[in-house]
This record gives sequence, C-alpha cells and structure tokens, in this order.
Amino acid sequence: MRIIFAVSFKRYQKGMSTNKKIMVTAALPYANGPIHIGHLAGCYLPSDIYVRYLRMRGRDVKFVCGSDEHGVPITIKAKKEGITPQDVVDRYNAMMKGAFEEFGISFDHYSRTSSPQHHKNAQEFFKTLMDKGALVAKETQQYFDPEAGQFLADRYITGECPKCHAADAYGDQCESCGTSLNATDLIQPKSTLSGATPELRNTTNWFLPLDELSEDLRAFLESREGWKPNVMGQCMSWLNAGDGLQPRAMTRDLDWGVPVPVEGAEGKVMYVWFDAPIGYISSTQELLPNDWEEYWKGDNAEIVHFIGKDNIVFHCIIFPAMLQQHGEYALPTQVPANEFLNLEGRKLSTSKNWAVWLHEYLQDFPGQQDVLRYALTATMPETKDNDFTWADFQQRNNSELVAGLGNFVNRVMVLTHKYFGGVVQQPNVLTDADREALAAMTQYGRRIAKSIEAFKFREALNEAMNVARLGNKYLQEQEPWKVYKQDPERAGVALFVATQIMGAAAIVFEPFLPSTAAKLRNMLGLSEGFRWEYANEETIIPGGTQLGESTLLFSKIEDEQMEAQRQKLEAAAAANAPQTTTESIKHMPQKEDISFDQFMAMDLRVGTILEAERVPKADRLLKFLVDTGLDQRTIVSGIAEHFSPEEMVGKKVTVLMNLPPRKIRGVESQGMLLMAEDGDGKLRLMSPEGGADSGAIIG
Ligand code: MF3
Ligand code: ZN
Repeated sequence: MRIIFAVSFKRYQKGMSTNKKIMVTAALPYANGPIHIGHLAGCYLPSDIYVRYLRMRGRDVKFVCGSDEHGVPITIKAKKEGITPQDVVDRYNAMMKGAFEEFGISFDHYSRTSSPQHHKNAQEFFKTLMDKGALVAKETQQYFDPEAGQFLADRYITGECPKCHAADAYGDQCESCGTSLNATDLIQPKSTLSGATPELRNTTNWFLPLDELSEDLRAFLESREGWKPNVMGQCMSWLNAGDGLQPRAMTRDLDWGVPVPVEGAEGKVMYVWFDAPIGYISSTQELLPNDWEEYWKGDNAEIVHFIGKDNIVFHCIIFPAMLQQHGEYALPTQVPANEFLNLEGRKLSTSKNWAVWLHEYLQDFPGQQDVLRYALTATMPETKDNDFTWADFQQRNNSELVAGLGNFVNRVMVLTHKYFGGVVQQPNVLTDADREALAAMTQYGRRIAKSIEAFKFREALNEAMNVARLGNKYLQEQEPWKVYKQDPERAGVALFVATQIMGAAAIVFEPFLPSTAAKLRNMLGLSEGFRWEYANEETIIPGGTQLGESTLLFSKIEDEQMEAQRQKLEAAAAANAPQTTTESIKHMPQKEDISFDQFMAMDLRVGTILEAERVPKADRLLKFLVDTGLDQRTIVSGIAEHFSPEEMVGKKVTVLMNLPPRKIRGVESQGMLLMAEDGDGKLRLMSPEGGADSGAIIG
C-alpha cells in the first residue's frame, strides 16, 4: 500500500517544468502612515500567497517590495507634524518593514526609494529616456500657490474631476474613477496647502508624450493574456476615450524626490510615479547585484505586479510606456489588481483614522497572524469592493478555524497519541470509504493550484478549507474513538487515513496560513523541502511515522474582544474627527493684500471689561463697559451665544478703537472687540498674554 515518493513525484514534475524567471512585486507603500488591512487585502496578502505557492512548486521566483518615500503624501505628512520628510519616511519605513515581517509577508527584499541604489537607478533610467528623445521639455503653465510660495502638483491640489465629477480629485489622479489627470484639468482647483485658489505660472518640465505612445500601449495590452476584466477594461477605456491619452509631466517643481539629472532642471525632482515603479527594479538590484537582469529583461522574465485598483493606470499605462521607451526591459505579464476593502461598512481611511492597523493587530492578537490572514483572504475584494467586519472575523475564527481545521487536527493528534503512542499505523486493508477519502484528498492540490494561478485566492482558500472539512467528515463517519474498543486495528487504519488528510492540509495551507502550516509540519514530522506536489499523493505521512507533540492551532475569540475592537475603532475615529481649530482656518483663502498704511491706520489697544450685560430682546448681543486706558466706553458685541456676561467681567480684550461708532439695537457701540473664530464656529477672546495693561497699544 505504501507509495514510493520518488517515483510518483517525478510524474508531477513533468509538464510544468519551466525556466521562467518570475518577478513578483507588491505596490511600494507610501511611507506616510502604517499598514492597514486594506493594504493587506489589496496586494500584500495575494502576492504573498502567490509567491509561497510558486516557491513550493519549485519555480524560480523573486518577491520584492519597499517603501515609496517620495511624493507629496510624504511632505504633507511632514508638514502636518512639523517634522522633516526624512523623519517621516524613517519612521514608517521601519514600522512597515517590521510589521510585514511579523505578519509573514515573505519578501525576498524590502527596500526603500531613498536608497542610493534607487536614486542612481532612477536617474540612469531618466537619462536613457532623455538620450532616446523619449522625454520632451516643455514650458507650460502650472499652478502655483502664492501664499505657500510653491508650485502645486499631485496631492497638493484638489478639485473636481473633469471625467466623473467627484469633488476631491487630486492633481494627478482621481481616485474615484481611477483616471490620471494633469493638475490643469481640475475644475475649481484648490491648494491643499493654504486653501487658496492657485494661479498659473510658467515653468519647464519634462513630459512623456503618451498621446504618441497609445498605439504601442494598445499592442502591449492586446498581447496580454488572462488579465482580470476590471483591469483590462479600465485600460481600454482610457485608450479609447474621446481625447485619448495626454502627455504627462514626469518632473515636478518640488524639493522632495529624486533630483532630475538634466541640465536646466536644477531644483526639480522626478514625479513620484516616475521613480516609484523603477523602485521594483532597484530593489531587485539590491537583492541580486549580479543576476537581477534575468528577472527584468528578455523573454524569460515573467513580471507580475500586485496592486490595488487606484494604481492601475500607473502600472498598466505609464510604467509600461516608460519601459517601452527605455527598450531594454520586459513588460509586465500580469497586473492582478484588487478592488477596495471597506471596514464595518465605511471606506478605510488613513486620514480619518478609520482602519485596523497591522501593528496594532499584532499587539492585540499576539501569535494570531493567521487568523487575520484567513479572514482577509476569505473576504478579499477580488472582483468588487468588499467589507471587513469584526463579526465576520470572529465567526470565521470560531467556526472555521477553531471548529473546522483546529478540531480536525486536534482529533487526529490526540487519538493517535492516546491509542498508538503517536505512531501512524501502517494499514493492511483499506475500505472503500478510505479509498474514496484518499482519492478525494488528492484532488485538492491541483484544484487549489488552478485557482491560485488564476488569482482567485478566495476560491483557493475555500478549497483548502475543504480538505479540513473532508477530514472532519471522514472522522465523523469512521468514529475511530468508538471503533477502537472492538477493533483497534481498524481505528489505526482510520487514523492513518485522517493523518494523510492532515498532511494534505499541511501542504495546501502553507501559502495562506504559513505559521499554522509550519505547526502542522512539525506535528507530522514533515521535513523541510516539502513540495506542493506532495498534496497529490495518497501517502504523505508514511506508516511508522512518530508524530510530534500536539500543539494548539487556534483558540476561540470572545464577544468582548470584538466589542473592544469596535470601540477602539470608534474612539480613534472620533479622536481624529476634524478638529476644526487650526485646520479650517488654514483652509480659508487669504484675503486681498492691504497696504502698510492701511494696517497702521488701525488703532488697536488692550482693554479690560469692567461691566457686562445682556441686551434686552437681542439673544446674541452683550453690552460691555470697557476700560481702554484712554477712556471707558460702551461696546456691543454679538457673542452672547458663546460667553455669559459673568465670565467676561475682568477679562483683558483686544479693542479696535477707531471703528466709527454705530447703533446696534438702540445702543451706540464705540469700537469692536476682536475674537478668534475656530472652524467649527467657536469663539475665543484675543487676550494678551503676559498681563499687558489697559491701554497698551497693539501693532
Ligand atoms: N505608493 C503608491 C501607493 O501607495 C504605490 C506605488 S507602487 C509603485 O499608492 F509602482 F510605485 F511602486
Ligand atoms: Zn474621476
């Protein structure tokens, strides 16, 4: 009955042997915030599953990633926190790298686009395009923020999308419809730095003339096979749009990025979407200084980019156009983009703090990486947006991982130890039921392989879970715990069969739940160097094998834990809800210039409130008697909704003295009290700090 591995193993080697060099990339995350579950479900989990599977098939695959450390998202974050862009990227690069590692995302190399190798590589790439005449210098008008004193591009500018009319499109892309834009396309553009309406100024930038490249791009896209309909559909709609592709600037008048290595471009940097995808190549160069080219050039290179849907235009249009113009590189074979994951029915948002952060999950659920991997893979937004909820997470853990896979494995281990000292029994006779179970078991490896190769990870995971379901069903029917009393040998056979099914599970779960699979292999004594093809065998764990200690795989997650997570989410989002104080004021456009003389004409002094009372029949008005040093005068102010008369007495205030007196509800007001108004309409007194006396002159 025992099947000799070596012989049958060869059988499966045939037909799939290939010398392709497979390069798998996962989108370089911006180093402006930590990783959340949307990133994971969007591209890091699918790419990791894919790569782990290919490695088990013995394929020649390399998996690279790194932090995207340039671009406006970084500088915006730095500005907001009052630190340097370098501080921002150092912090988040370290954080993301560590979290990915702990989560079991098995990059061969995780680099960063601030690395010297990348700067050199991106500059060489740029120069090659210049030498080939593929980039055209053009003086154009670009938006400039007079208040901030800088050019606005990309996320420094928002406005209405000219295509889908979403209100919050960025200067380089509308995230609602995915269209790539030039800042000058935006309707009603607004600076995100100051809120000001930007003005146009002349500047020279280097353009990729996509309008002239669309036929090359069409040929490239039409030669691709098996692309997801959502990805190919988007690309074709851009190519076929009425006005077609437009030239796009590949340089920016900014100071954070890879310097443009061209005379006359001093002080300019590359557009972040020019340098970032080149980062995949730089990362490979760091990993394989001598052999990197095999993965990027020639017919043997097979390149697969895992991304989220907002990255499609860059990976399927702009980067391929750059590669075509460069001439030395292979073009992407596949770009299996995912849609978006929502969280508890709302859009995930870093800025609104509506997210489950990976580093926090790892803290709150120590050792339970695989539970999140399982729940996210099961709800992966492969063909449409999908929703992650803690209720679903709990349910999947408790009824699928604990009661399904965990329970099955536990029964095999406990019973084999109890009855046979942990030794897998070599069967003499198999029943029909045994043969059927083993035959069914051998089908899953191929089925799962097919799904993974088609980027259908949810389907693949469900098939893997079917192996555990098969095991549970088999044990339930055979009941070795009952049979043992009359027929120990028969119980031994049933446990042998169940152990094979556990062996298959150890193989097929490896791409999805790597630390669980490692525990399974440990229990089964399955050595290193295991291959995917083992799952096709009827004997995976030979009779006579001594099983190891039984280890706990999963444990029940309680309602309270989930409630705590939901509360944490709400609390974080509430704490982050726009604190209008500084922000909305910042967004008010600046008023027209005044002359110095106009400023000097204002007579501002410190006053002290001596008396305060409500104005009868006027809900909003308070009447004050103010000591201005010069005199005691009456001032009426519409602030009764914000302050009570009692709290105002004795307060120091700023008084605009020379506003001509005017009657308000029959009371003559002889000046004005200055207030600061928050974005949410809250008023605060402008009181001098440090105890200036009444009459002190302000200016
Ligand atoms: N940083 C980008 C984002 O988070 C992705 C960059 S992918 C690469 O959307 F192609 F540029 F590397
Ligand atoms: Zn749009």
